[in-house]
Amino acid sequence: MGQGTPGGLNRQAPGDRKSDADKKKDKKYEPAAPPTRVGRKQRKQKGPEAAARLPTVTPLTKCRLRLLKLERVKDYLLMEEEFVTNQERLKPQEEKAEEDRSKVDDLRGSPMSVGNLEELIDENHAIVSSSVGPEYYVGIMSFVDKDQLEPGCAILMHNKVLSVVGLLQDEVDPMVSVMKVEKAPLESYADIGGLDAQIQEIKEAVELPLTHPELYEDIGIRPPKGVILYGEPGTGKTLLAKAVANSTSATFLRVVGSELIQKYLGDGPKLVRELFRVADDLSPSIVFIDEIDAVGTKRYDAHSGGEREIQRTMLELLNQLDGFDSRGDVKVILATNRIESLDPALLRPGRIDRKIEFPLPDIKTRRRIFQIHTSRMTLADDVNLEEFVMTKDEFSGADIKAICTEAGLLALRERRMKVTHADFKKAKEKVMYKKKEGVPEGLYM
Ligand SMILES: Nc1ncnc2c1ncn2[C@@H]1O[C@H](COP(=O)(O)OP(=O)(O)OP(=O)(O)O)[C@@H](O)[C@H]1O
Ligand SMILES: [Mg+2]
Repeated sequence: MGQGTPGGLNRQAPGDRKSDADKKKDKKYEPAAPPTRVGRKQRKQKGPEAAARLPTVTPLTKCRLRLLKLERVKDYLLMEEEFVTNQERLKPQEEKAEEDRSKVDDLRGSPMSVGNLEELIDENHAIVSSSVGPEYYVGIMSFVDKDQLEPGCAILMHNKVLSVVGLLQDEVDPMVSVMKVEKAPLESYADIGGLDAQIQEIKEAVELPLTHPELYEDIGIRPPKGVILYGEPGTGKTLLAKAVANSTSATFLRVVGSELIQKYLGDGPKLVRELFRVADDLSPSIVFIDEIDAVGTKRYDAHSGGEREIQRTMLELLNQLDGFDSRGDVKVILATNRIESLDPALLRPGRIDRKIEFPLPDIKTRRRIFQIHTSRMTLADDVNLEEFVMTKDEFSGADIKAICTEAGLLALRERRMKVTHADFKKAKEKVMYKKKEGVPEGLYM
């Protein structure tokens, strides 16, 4: 386009030279224009075909400027678009942050205190007491659900005017909810060797009253509240409790005595209370407290605060067992291997009146336990378990299990697929040796 114009001028130029010269005299400015374009003209003319290729649009520079301008506008619009999409993406977050901030401000603006509802006066008024002591006649805010308010429940109060602004739901202590056995243990009655009398007894004392209370009513006796399992370590007390948990359809709550000892004063008894309250809520239920000697030792003059706290925990336990509130559907199983150190009050009739002893297994039981624990092992033909069954050494069920496991490990070490008699022999020696090591001999002799 531009090339076209200067070309035309050039062509005209030779013919008009004279007239130009004439005009020069008339107008001085005319010739001044062409020289400014000379440079460009020649350069662009080097490719004559370029002139043919491009459409002839007249003001070249102007168009280019416009193009640049439009490009700049486009860039700007792109930028704007990006900004808007970003804005849209971030907006919900910002709104949420704002909401949270206002909520926090609300809370900060009106700190609340916790109190107790003593009495409901009318629709909108109640008497409340706060933890500090005095009781107040206050209003109930309109947004509080009045159907759920009842004397004795915990409420949230405004810090200044003490009006009721909320209701604290009575929630279960997280510690207690952990104790509930959700998944039944794998051990069942079939995994217990011997102990038939013990199984019978625990079924009678714990399961039967829950499933057939009418039997006890017919005879006219009150079913026992609970049982205590005692005996040497490793005789299957915990195992039996697990089997009960496995087979029962009642709620099974399990605690270890040491769990009841808490850091802060009063927390231990509170936990016991909570435990029995939950047991009552979920009744029929069975509460199993393993290693009860942690809290149930004899009461003597305790000197340290910690000991006294443990005693208070036990007293609360006694209280719960006595049950001012009748605990018809809650049965208690305790387990310990040191029954002689327990407080006699815990074991007196009326509280825990069934004591089930777990003796060391006799020959028949031993055979059965060996059978149970070797049933899933691959034994070589030369294994003669009778030798171990008939031995004079004292074994508990746990020792027998340890021997079987150890023998299996020995075979595994030599990459053998079968467990041999020699393995069992070695394992037995090892277990017996370890057992003797555990008790310093001569100290108590
Ligand atoms: N009668 C038995 N039949 C089968 N296995 C048994 C028997 N007695 C004990 N065992 C084995 O011994 C292991 C330990 O037993 P358990 O945990 O019941 O001992 P415990 O009586 O609770 O001991 P502790 O008083 O030390 O708590 C069990 O896992 C089980 O494999
Ligand atoms: Mg145990």
